[in-house]
Amino acid sequence: MTVIDGAGVSKRYRAELKQRADEFFSQYGRKVGLAVVLVGCDPASEIYVGNKIKACAEVGVQSYSHRLSEHCTREELMSLIDSLNADDNVDGILVQFPLPEHLSETEVSERIAADKDVDGFSEINLGKLMTGNAELVACTPSGVMKLLEEYDIQLKGMDCVVIGRSIIVGKPMCQLLTNADATVTLCHSKTKNLAEKCRAADLVVAAVGIPAFVTGDMIKAGAVVVDVGINRVNGKVVGDVDFESVKDKASFITPVPKGVGPMTITMLMHNSIIAAYKHENNKTL
Ligand code: GUN
Repeated sequence: MTVIDGAGVSKRYRAELKQRADEFFSQYGRKVGLAVVLVGCDPASEIYVGNKIKACAEVGVQSYSHRLSEHCTREELMSLIDSLNADDNVDGILVQFPLPEHLSETEVSERIAADKDVDGFSEINLGKLMTGNAELVACTPSGVMKLLEEYDIQLKGMDCVVIGRSIIVGKPMCQLLTNADATVTLCHSKTKNLAEKCRAADLVVAAVGIPAFVTGDMIKAGAVVVDVGINRVNGKVVGDVDFESVKDKASFITPVPKGVGPMTITMLMHNSIIAAYKHENNKTL
């Protein structure tokens, strides 16, 4: 069994991205710019946003941090997005989810200009992913694909199960695996015989948000297991996979922490650089 080293892959890829960001700077005389918006003070979101801003500094991307109160109005948030859409120094915009109840994540994703949508959550970018013309793809699933590629895991013809149907992970994950010629079953809270479906799979991606949801008895010997979960239990971060019972059955497994987590942020840097080149190219059209 191989434990996939997400932290290592991430570190190497960030070094490559730094070179690309530096080239952008030499070519255009300005840094790639990423605006990061945090509404409210959810402690987990504070940590994620902090890590995103640190990654920007590491890769040479200029971050623009914006904080709004948890009671901010829809109009305040929309007007901030409008001003970032119009800002020529900003190539990418990320509004951290979840948002407070009174604000709509769908409305936010649609308000961000599609070319600055570094999360890939807008209908335009999700549509491009479906038609096979993806440019900006959701960071967590594209990070999973990068890890599978780095470990030379051949997806063609594989039977895959994805557990979780969010726009952030499950749905784009299914599409990426489908685009890579795998056969994909999308499972969720209403799925019947989930354990049986998992046991038939060559690759299981767990993105349910329930600690230790996937156990060893649900995994076929030799399967690849990808754990997208980040759950806090008694002050400790644990995944959606029960690592101890799964590790002896899996051929490859991603740990939590240091598995998929660091890749999400690395792919955000990747998307920001893509958006920046697109932004400059659009100016010359
Ligand atoms: N919350 C959890 N993951 C993500 C993500 O990838 N992007 C945004 N915007 N919010 C998140």
